Amino acid sequence: MADIRVICAIGQRGQLGLHGRLPWEGNTEPDYVADVARFFELSRGHVLLVGPRTYASVPAFAFEDRTIVEIRSSMRPQDVIEKYAGRVIIVGGGPPVYAAYAPLIRHWDINRLPYDGEADRWFDPQWLVASRD
Ligand SMILES: NC(=O)c1ccc[n+]([C@@H]2O[C@H](COP(=O)([O-])OP(=O)(O)OC[C@H]3O[C@@H](n4cnc5c(N)ncnc54)[C@H](OP(=O)(O)O)[C@@H]3O)[C@@H](O)[C@H]2O)c1
Repeated sequence: MADIRVICAIGQRGQLGLHGRLPWEGNTEPDYVADVARFFELSRGHVLLVGPRTYASVPAFAFEDRTIVEIRSSMRPQDVIEKYAGRVIIVGGGPPVYAAYAPLIRHWDINRLPYDGEADRWFDPQWLVASRD
C-alpha cells in the first residue's frame, strides 16, 4: 500500500480554514508556531498534493525542499498517486481534496489546536473511515 498521509491542524470544533488561510494565521503563540514548524519538518523531501487555493497560500521557501503539486478535480486521485510511486505523498487539502483522497489515506496526523474562533472550512471526521468503494 502506498504511503499516503495527511498532516493537518484543526481548531477545537474542527476549524480548518478562513478566507483562504489558516484560521489562526499570524498567531505567534508557541502551539501555533510549533505546529507550522512540525508540518514543514514532516513534509520535507516528500510530495505535497494541494488544491489551488491551498497552493496559493504556500510560502515560497516551502518549494525548496519538497515537491508541491497543484491538483484539480479533473484529475483522478489514483492517477495522481501513481505518478509519485515510491515517494511519500502528503495530501494537503482543502476539504474537497481530503474528501476525494480520504479512502487512500493510511496515516492521519491531526493536531488539535486551542483555537475556537470562526472558520469557513471544516474538518469532517467521516473522512477517517471513508472506504474505497
Ligand atoms: N488547517 C489545515 O491543516 C489546512 C490544510 C489545508 C488547507 N487548509 C485551508 O483550507 C482552505 C482552502 O481549501 P479550499 O477547499 O477552499 O480550496 P483548495 O485548497 O483549492 O481545495 C479545493 C479544490 O481542490 C480542487 N481539487 C483537486 N483535486 C480534487 C478532487 N479530486 N476532488 C475535488 N476537488 C479537487 C478543486 O478545485 P477545481 O475544481 O478548481 O480543480 C477544489 O475546489 C484555506 O483556508 C486553507 O488555509 C487548512
